[in-house]
Amino acid sequence: MSDETLSNLLHEDRRFEPPADLAAHANVTAEAYARADADREAFWAEQAERLDWDQKWDRVLDWDDPPFAKWFVGGRINASYNCVDRHVAAGKGDKVALHWVGEPEDDARDITYAELKDQVSQAANALTDLGVQTGDRVAIYLPMIPEVVVAMLACARIGAPHTVVFGGFSSEALASRVADCEAKVIITSDGGYRRGAASALKPAVDEAVEKAAAQGQRVEKVLVVRRTGQDVDWDDSRDVWWHDAVEKASTEHECEFFDSEHPLYVMYTSGTTGKPKGILHTTGGYLVGTSYTHWAVFDLKADTDVYWCTADVGWVTGHSYMVYGPLSNNVTQVMYEGTPDSPHKGRWWEIVEKYGVTIFYTAPTAIRTFMKWGSDIPAKFDLSTIRVLGSVGEPINPEAYIWYRETIGASRVPVVDTWWQTETGQIMISPLPGVTAGKPGSAMTALPGVSADVVNDDGESVPNGSGGFLVLTKPWPAMLRTLWGDDERFKDTYWSRFAEEGFYFAGDGAKKDEDGDLWLLGRVDDVMNVSGHRLSTTEIESALVSHPKVAEAAVVGAADETTGQAVCAFVILRESALEGGEAAPDELIQELRQHVQKEIGAIAKPRQIMIVPELPKTRSGKIMRRLLKDVAENRDVGDVTTLADSTVMDLIKDKQTAGASED
Ligand code: WT7
Repeated sequence: MSDETLSNLLHEDRRFEPPADLAAHANVTAEAYARADADREAFWAEQAERLDWDQKWDRVLDWDDPPFAKWFVGGRINASYNCVDRHVAAGKGDKVALHWVGEPEDDARDITYAELKDQVSQAANALTDLGVQTGDRVAIYLPMIPEVVVAMLACARIGAPHTVVFGGFSSEALASRVADCEAKVIITSDGGYRRGAASALKPAVDEAVEKAAAQGQRVEKVLVVRRTGQDVDWDDSRDVWWHDAVEKASTEHECEFFDSEHPLYVMYTSGTTGKPKGILHTTGGYLVGTSYTHWAVFDLKADTDVYWCTADVGWVTGHSYMVYGPLSNNVTQVMYEGTPDSPHKGRWWEIVEKYGVTIFYTAPTAIRTFMKWGSDIPAKFDLSTIRVLGSVGEPINPEAYIWYRETIGASRVPVVDTWWQTETGQIMISPLPGVTAGKPGSAMTALPGVSADVVNDDGESVPNGSGGFLVLTKPWPAMLRTLWGDDERFKDTYWSRFAEEGFYFAGDGAKKDEDGDLWLLGRVDDVMNVSGHRLSTTEIESALVSHPKVAEAAVVGAADETTGQAVCAFVILRESALEGGEAAPDELIQELRQHVQKEIGAIAKPRQIMIVPELPKTRSGKIMRRLLKDVAENRDVGDVTTLADSTVMDLIKDKQTAGASED
């Protein structure tokens, strides 16, 4: 973020007080902050009482061996039981859990909590029959269909940690995740619907099984949901149809309770190296953190609210705020399979109107897209049921915040800008809709029970009005426990930067304004945020150099009006690729973009690739991405004195127009 943008932000003086009726009946009031501060562990223990435990904990937090935390030590719990069974037992079985909406029109299904319980039980029985035991990992690669929720809860029910891989990721990405966590079963479908067409998934799984085998991991079974009816290649010894295995299984399943620290899932996310990190979340603390924050931040009234989080289940937002948080709270929610523009650009608002959505949670990139499409589209629908609006994934610029509040929220609905990460598992910094006077662009303050600060290089808290690094200064229940199979990288990545202070390093820059409220400023490491999704520059660089025509590559995230940041790549070709003329043909650029899509997924496909003769490097050989960012954002290139060869930037700028490509 440029200094100018930042200073504009901080001069933002609009304030939005909570609506009086919401404040009067709010789940959480201002007293919670002080109460949690006075005794953090007692506060979280109180929140843990919201769940059903087979056996209560002996100790709230074990932080004797930091950074390895244990929460609700000695407690026994089952996440699936808490999301499903207990609601049925409490007489809420007929309540709709999911208003599922397929992308093709008229393709919708309502699933009650009782039905969900039966389906989860069947899937748990089927997984056990396929040989899955407690502790085994199961990979899930599915579109946004109810079966993905059923599959996750079935895994949780039998204590088999799931790893959900976003359906937009490539077979390569799926294989490396399957191999890293040694998953022996994959749950997938023939395909799903996107932008009006059936898009296949099974072929990527077939490839991934082979690739994982080459990396030493044998996938024993592939469980396949029939969604689109498209043709699939079938391996009788390995592939099993969901409708054969699950839908014919018994709906009786007695669930077992597990230790509070039993692994619940592994979610892979990009780091600063080429290898994604397997973030490990365990059961008790994670469920307490997501359940409480979902109830507090959205002021959830489970009996009357209809909640909709638009995130894909393949990302952590889908895990925490579509599956575990909302279902543990017995909410009725909407789940939508497709894209917002299919078959028309008002599809989301049509769904809000149809189901009477009251709480709506989405990402700034979507909000900016709707702004571009025009306010007349949402204006055609009745959005008057909405009472809380949420934002997540990247900083929300004041313009988008105001548009969201005015156009979707009729200028009366509070907007909660929620900061958190795959690693934190739960929302950490956010306004409370019944308490906080919101400032457009600020995530405001740490939630009750959460402790955040902004520090300088030496780990000292900066005064109000200053910026620095965002840190979390106390453990919290849904925190990651480690990186799957890599305790060292876990310590190194998050806990070494401020080891002396014992702070968790979030990797984000932040500023405290004059009131001490927090403004998030984006990543301070080599991680990009494209449409609210995290991508690693190094990972895309490795993908590019794995192409035979590429000698070297450097990737930067350049500011983009809609997606927040966009992937821009600078590529040096191999001599052999240059034969037959210097000019980089458009086809080659397209080929490289396709190659990244194949290696990682469409989301990582560079917006722009520039073929350059050199890359700017320091004398020690480190690529100076800062300078490339200047070029990608059409700025004057900054200080070049640390470059080994200061003429390089001129060469790059000359080539810039020749090699650019966009679509
Ligand atoms: C990174 C985490 C949290 C689920 C989705 C992304 C950025 C997230 C905000 C926000 C400013 C935000 C940060 C963070 N981020 N929410 N409200 N304001 N920045 O999860 O892929 O783990 O990415 O997203 O940079 O570190 P993720």
